[in-house]
Amino acid sequence: MTDRTTGPPPVHPAWLPDAAFAPVGSRRVLVAPGPDAGPVGETVVAELRRATAAHGGALTVLAPDDTAGDRHHDLVLGVVADGTQHPEGFTRRRSGGVTTVVAGGAAGLLYGLHDVVRLGERAFGDDHAPVVEAPVAPVRMLDHWDNIDVHPVMGQVERGYAGGSIFYADGRVRDDLSRVADYARLLGSIGVNAVAINNVNVHATEARLLTDGLADVARVADVFRPHGVRTYLSVSFGSPMRLGGLATNDPLDPDVQAWWAATADRVWAAIPDFGGFVVKADSEGQPGPFAYGRDHADGANLLARAVAPHGGTVFWRAFVYNHEQDWRDRRTDRARAAYDHFAPLDGRFDDNVVLQVKYGPLDFQVREAVSPVIAAMPRTRVAVELQVTQEYTGHQKHVCYLGPLWSDVLGFPLAEDATRTVAEIASGLPGPRTPEGAELQAGGITAVSNVGDDEFWTGHPLAQANLYAYGRLAWDPSADPVALLDEWLDLTFPGADPRVRETLHAFMDGSWLTYEKYTAPLGVCFMVDPLRGHYGPNVDGYEYSKWGTYHFADRDGIGVDRTVATGTGFTGQYQAPWDAVYEDLATCPDELLLFFHHVPYQHVLKSGTTVIQHIYDTRADAVDVVESWVSRWEALRGLVDDRLHARVAERLAEQVRSATEWRDQVRTYFFRKSGVPDASGRPIY
Ligand code: GCU
Repeated sequence: MTDRTTGPPPVHPAWLPDAAFAPVGSRRVLVAPGPDAGPVGETVVAELRRATAAHGGALTVLAPDDTAGDRHHDLVLGVVADGTQHPEGFTRRRSGGVTTVVAGGAAGLLYGLHDVVRLGERAFGDDHAPVVEAPVAPVRMLDHWDNIDVHPVMGQVERGYAGGSIFYADGRVRDDLSRVADYARLLGSIGVNAVAINNVNVHATEARLLTDGLADVARVADVFRPHGVRTYLSVSFGSPMRLGGLATNDPLDPDVQAWWAATADRVWAAIPDFGGFVVKADSEGQPGPFAYGRDHADGANLLARAVAPHGGTVFWRAFVYNHEQDWRDRRTDRARAAYDHFAPLDGRFDDNVVLQVKYGPLDFQVREAVSPVIAAMPRTRVAVELQVTQEYTGHQKHVCYLGPLWSDVLGFPLAEDATRTVAEIASGLPGPRTPEGAELQAGGITAVSNVGDDEFWTGHPLAQANLYAYGRLAWDPSADPVALLDEWLDLTFPGADPRVRETLHAFMDGSWLTYEKYTAPLGVCFMVDPLRGHYGPNVDGYEYSKWGTYHFADRDGIGVDRTVATGTGFTGQYQAPWDAVYEDLATCPDELLLFFHHVPYQHVLKSGTTVIQHIYDTRADAVDVVESWVSRWEALRGLVDDRLHARVAERLAEQVRSATEWRDQVRTYFFRKSGVPDASGRPIY
């Protein structure tokens, strides 16, 4: 037993506290998991058993050959695997005072249970017509950028802001995987069904997970399986040389092909339901096919053919660009790179390759245009990659609820004359749309996780909402992100004083836009400090670096000319109408103006103000907003858990400090560059 006086604090239950199960647990429940329920069905029964025991209800578990008799139940959940339900979906109805969930399989049963938990008392209200629920994206994945060893620069979790890894300690996979089990339960409750458990930058120790470490990976997979989550590994394209002692990694070399095939055989022998591989190749120094004069289709298909006999999938990342740029070279544009590399390869990838594309053409910025690559490859399965971990959005020190950003991205009508959204492309919807008319399989939705071994999982307790919203949006990209916050609030703070909800909505609903307002303006990107891991302002932090140049500010103006007419030609990568919309200054939306155009400081925005005055005003206004949160949070003392209150208070103080630093540096920088005074008269230093 942990000694509570000296031991670590208990782990926060996130959105699954026992109290959230009271509406279900206080009722008479019947569950019929069916003959093929497996470990996921057992999880459903265990959840119901725990809930009914804690809250005074009663549970009947119906064996496949049993009948329910005439006992009355308030909630009946069962699997009907006759093909009428989506295998991961369910239908919920309320009639005659009974709530029924009919699922297509064990995973659907789990998701149906959590649907009822989320609804709480509302699930037991008036009768209503059947509600059919099924996930939009078939793969809903979280990638962990966890290292086994602690990396000297990146730490244990690359871009992790919540402590160490939940998977690894002391140079190996943890013996005690109870934290992973809690995490798996959280993921299962929001419909996430895949995890990749190690960093895409595969260092030497982690590389061995693929070979010597398989027994440990199998232990991790055992923990995820009961929650409907399949396990994947990030693997290095350089594995044949690094692990197999081969003389080459050339994808066309028969020995290399044989090595991958034998390796895949061993992986699936150890973990029969293993998902597959995530690969970062020819990207930021990782090995890849270019070294052998091969392209990315050759590289991806090499792995795809090794895993195909086992039903495995290769998630091949499109994050390929030149990170050895010369800032003097004005024609090289990192935004173009992924499209230039990948679009010509459309049609060449095997069916079990998914091209994993970051939502923007740069790198998880606060505001970017949506990546044109997502729409450029109709013959390729595409997954869109989001970043739940707050690398560029305040390191989980700042409140920044990302649901609205992801909702905008997933709902953006990028393709086919602005009729087909990013989420539809990633989900293979709305049906056969390839040029040949063939049914195109979906890729999925993926994201970089934000959890660590922190007692609140996410460093900033409110960042739990980002993980929650990610899972829910991957299930239903059309969900309203503010409504998802309500769900999260109800579950996480069950029965709380209404002021808790009111205050957290006031902070969180618009917090992404608030963050944008005190950081880089109008889609210009970066301006973050490379020496503080992308935290805090450094307006010229990347301006003269090899990683690309992003604002080109001089005394007259600011922004990156990415037009076809006079710039890098990036706008030409978009389908109609977006190519024209972004090309023309008159139609380019304000929030992306500096992503696409270089304009004078006195350029008048559609909002009616000038670019320079917008820069001055929004930074100052945003800090006022953040400052107002401090006293509002203070007023909640005693209404939420004390430790949670203290943690948020500490982070809010840092957010105010950091936002102030952003405000003052950005305002002063542009005053010094432009010489244009701030019409509002607020101080500039
Ligand atoms: C960003 C991030 C890196 C990461 C990379 C990736 O550039 O800063 O830490 O490795 O993305 O997505 O591969």
